[in-house]
Amino acid sequence: MEQTAEKKQVIFSGIQPSGTLTIGNYIGALRNFVTLQHDYDCIYCIVDEHAITVRQNPADLRRRCLELAAIYIASGLDPKQNLIYCQSHVSAHAELAWILGCFTYMGELNRMTQFKAKSAAHEDNINAGLFTYPVLMAADILLYQTNLVPVGVDQKQHLELCRDIAQRFNAVYGNVFTIPEGYIPKVGAKIMSLQEPGKKMSKSDPEDTYIALLDSPDVIRKKIRRAVTDSDGEIRFDPENKPGVSNLLSMISALTGTPVNQVVSDLQGVGYGELKNRTTEAVVTALEPLQREYQRLIADKAYLQSVIDENGQKASALATRTLRKVQKKIGFAPRG
Ligand code: AMP
Ligand code: TRP
Repeated sequence: MEQTAEKKQVIFSGIQPSGTLTIGNYIGALRNFVTLQHDYDCIYCIVDEHAITVRQNPADLRRRCLELAAIYIASGLDPKQNLIYCQSHVSAHAELAWILGCFTYMGELNRMTQFKAKSAAHEDNINAGLFTYPVLMAADILLYQTNLVPVGVDQKQHLELCRDIAQRFNAVYGNVFTIPEGYIPKVGAKIMSLQEPGKKMSKSDPEDTYIALLDSPDVIRKKIRRAVTDSDGEIRFDPENKPGVSNLLSMISALTGTPVNQVVSDLQGVGYGELKNRTTEAVVTALEPLQREYQRLIADKAYLQSVIDENGQKASALATRTLRKVQKKIGFAPRG
């Protein structure tokens, strides 16, 4: 993270420690983090402040933060090369979010589809944090002068709002923020539910709709065997008309690095049973090393704690630089 003549571009992304991670998180986000780590300065945040927009059990939240750190590392992210830390350990996130909230319109936040979906799902708790969630996400990204944000397609709208806020701020105060670009994978940007393949696979839905990163091979096999397909028996990539089959094909393609056309032609003449076997094989093979490494890491809580402590301090130093610049531009009183 040093500032040298050949300073690399900056990547920032975050995942909420709010439940079991799914193969959707892995294909849409995590897997790309790993590929990008060598060419960029990468910052991967455990966004616990975002997680509390929905009620969390304190003991679970605490445990999941370290578990997510272990997942990041087990996926192949080197904590010496990448900043892996907890959002709540760097107070600049919340401070910048307040400022950016004063540059964001109610109408913009009202249009966010995630807000609409989450308000419908948590009708008894439509809190202001749920509404301003994208402002905090913008602060996360802009604090680090981020160039690229790898996310699944569901975050595209939030990212566009982040760019709008940054441009609006820069138009008034000069070039304070780098304008970030999204990095959305071509295949697998939206892995669908196994039971309702018209819907995104989500960790907040029932067990049998998603594959968790830590599911055993047996459980994975069972869930895929029960995945909803269709009745025409043809293996073809057509997400609109054949969402279930296309979802399985996307998973194989993304996890084996084979173009989807190739996957389809390899499967000509076989039935859905074999399509499901191949999907299981691709998922189990991809997750096996991750799960082994995860088990090793999660047994060493002291190590995980030291990773988030050290990286949190480094992140804080970087974030504070941007925050101070913003505060000065806004006209807050100088510090003595
Ligand atoms: P979240 O679990 O909502 O914190 O999401 C973390 C990251 O995983 C974000 O970049 C999401 O876009 C991505 N993601 C979540 N679910 C899926 C899915 N079903 N398919 C692809 N990407 C996903
Ligand atoms: N909102 C993202 C999600 O739900 C998580 C997130 C928070 C994030 N801050 C971010 C992603 C900054 C990318 C960059 O998936």
